[in-house]
Amino acid sequence: MQTIKNALIALIVTVFFGSEVIAQQKSVVTFRPQAEKPAISKYIYSHFAEHLGRCIYGGFYVGENSPIPNTAGIRNDIIAALKKMKIPALRWPGGCFADTYHWKDGIGPKAQRPSMVNRWWGGVTEDNRFGTHDFLNMCEVLETEPYLAGNIGSGTVQELADWVQYVHSDTKNPMSDLRKKNGRDKPCSVRYWGVGNEAWGCGGNMTPEYYANEFKKYATFMSEWTSKGKIQRIASGANSADYNWTETLMKLIPVNMLEGVALHHYAVIEWNKKGSDDRFNEDTYFKSMQAALKMEELVTRHSAIMDKYDPQKKVALVVDEWGGWYDVADGTNPGFLYQQNTMRDAMIAGVTLNIFNNHADRVRMAALAQTVNVLQAVILTDKEKMILTPTYHVLEMYKVHQDATLLPLTIKTSDYTVGTERLPAVSISASVDTQKSVHITLTNIDSKQVNEVEIPLDGFTYKKVTGRILTSGNLQDKNTFDDPNKIKPSVFTGTKLQGGKLLVTLPPISVVVLNLD
Ligand code: AHR
Repeated sequence: MQTIKNALIALIVTVFFGSEVIAQQKSVVTFRPQAEKPAISKYIYSHFAEHLGRCIYGGFYVGENSPIPNTAGIRNDIIAALKKMKIPALRWPGGCFADTYHWKDGIGPKAQRPSMVNRWWGGVTEDNRFGTHDFLNMCEVLETEPYLAGNIGSGTVQELADWVQYVHSDTKNPMSDLRKKNGRDKPCSVRYWGVGNEAWGCGGNMTPEYYANEFKKYATFMSEWTSKGKIQRIASGANSADYNWTETLMKLIPVNMLEGVALHHYAVIEWNKKGSDDRFNEDTYFKSMQAALKMEELVTRHSAIMDKYDPQKKVALVVDEWGGWYDVADGTNPGFLYQQNTMRDAMIAGVTLNIFNNHADRVRMAALAQTVNVLQAVILTDKEKMILTPTYHVLEMYKVHQDATLLPLTIKTSDYTVGTERLPAVSISASVDTQKSVHITLTNIDSKQVNEVEIPLDGFTYKKVTGRILTSGNLQDKNTFDDPNKIKPSVFTGTKLQGGKLLVTLPPISVVVLNLD
C-alpha cells in the first residue's frame, strides 16, 4: 500500500513538475537484538594486484630510476593514497596469471631473471623484474599483509611448498639460504595463501572433484606452516552461482585442511556484451546494479552450504575477486582491462561492502579487483599523473568498519524502479568500534529519488552525529586527469533527530557514512 502511495506521489510530482524533479521515498531500519555480533574483519577491505595491463608495471611499480617519485620503485603518491584508505591485505600475482607464474623466475639479480609470455593478458613479455622480494617489500611500505596466490595449474607441489618455506623459514635449509642470498635475512610472515585460482577455468579447467583432490595434495605439503598457526590455505572457489562447486569442496575437503573458500563474482551485464565503462544509460546502470546486488544471494547461499559442513564457521568465505567489469576504455589494449570509474562504480562498491559487512560471520575476507588501472580500480595513473576514483572514496569512507563489531539490522526500503523492474533503493550496514563510536554506511542507488531513512537510536549513547557524503549529479560522472576532484566526499548535513530517531535524507546516487561519537 505504502509503495502504491509513494508511486502515486512520484507520478503526480513528475506530471506537474517534470521528470527532473526529485521525489522522496522512505526507508525504515530496525536493529536486530542478536547475541552473536561478529567482528567485521578488516580483511573484507583487501585488494588485488595482478600482473595484468598497467596494474603492477606502470601502475604500482615504476622502477627505482623513474623520474616519478618512488620508494624502491613503488610510486609515492600511490603509497600515500593506499595508506590513507587502509588496505589490510593485497593479493598477488594473480588471477589467471598466478597459475602460469613460477616464483623462482622472479628472485635473484633482475638482469638474470628469465622472461615469459603473459598469455592471459595481452601476450606481453613478462621479464620478472617485479618478483617476490619486490612484492613483500611493497607490502611493508603499504603497511598491508601479503596474500600470495600459488600456481597449481602449471606448477608443482614442490614449487608451492618451496615458496611457503622460502618466505617463512627461520631454520637453515636450502630455501631460507636462498632467501638470505637474495637479500632478505629475516623470514616474512605471509598468512594468506591461495591454492590456485579459478581452477574451474583459467586455473586448469578442473571439475570440483578433481580440484578437491588437488587441493588436499597441495594443502598437505603446506601443513607444516598451518600447524604453527602461520598460514591460511584458501581454496579456489566458485564462479558466482556455481553452488555445486562449494558443496563439492566442502564435502570432500576436511575442515581441518582448509581455512578459506573463495568466491568470484563480477558485476557484469553479459560476458559477451559488457557495455561501455562511462557511456551508459539508466537501463544499463540498472542491470549493473542487479548484477552487483546478486552478491547478497550468492553470499547467503554459499554460506548456507558451508554451514552444513562447518557449522562452527571455521572456514572463511573469501570473495577475493569482485567489482564492475565493462568493455575496456576506448583506444586501450583489450588485454589490459583498463576502464574508467564512474558514480555507477561508487554505487557497486557501496552496496557490495554493506553486503559483506552484514555477512561478517562467514565473509571474513574479500578483495576488490583490481587496485590500480585494472577493472574497478581505486587508482588510475597516466604517466606522472594519478587520480583517485569514486570507488576509492567509498572504500576510504567505509574503512571505519574495519575490525569493528557488526550491529545486525534489517531495512525496509522503497524500491528503485526502472520500467517494470525493481531493486531495493537503500542499502545499509552498521558497526560499533572499540571506542564505542557507531558507524553507519548507507547507499541510495536510486538515480532520481531522495530517500529518507529512519534509524532508531535508543540504546546508543553519543554526543554528536557527523557524516560525509559522496554524490554527483549524473551516474556517468567521474574523475579525470583534467578534473581529478570532480567527485570527492564532502560534509553531510542531511541528518535530523526526531523522537529518538535519526532521520537521514539521502540524495539520489549517494553514499553516506555517519559517525555517532
Ligand atoms: O581480475 C581479472 C581476472 O578475472 C582474473 O585474472 C581472473 O581470476 C578472473 O577471471
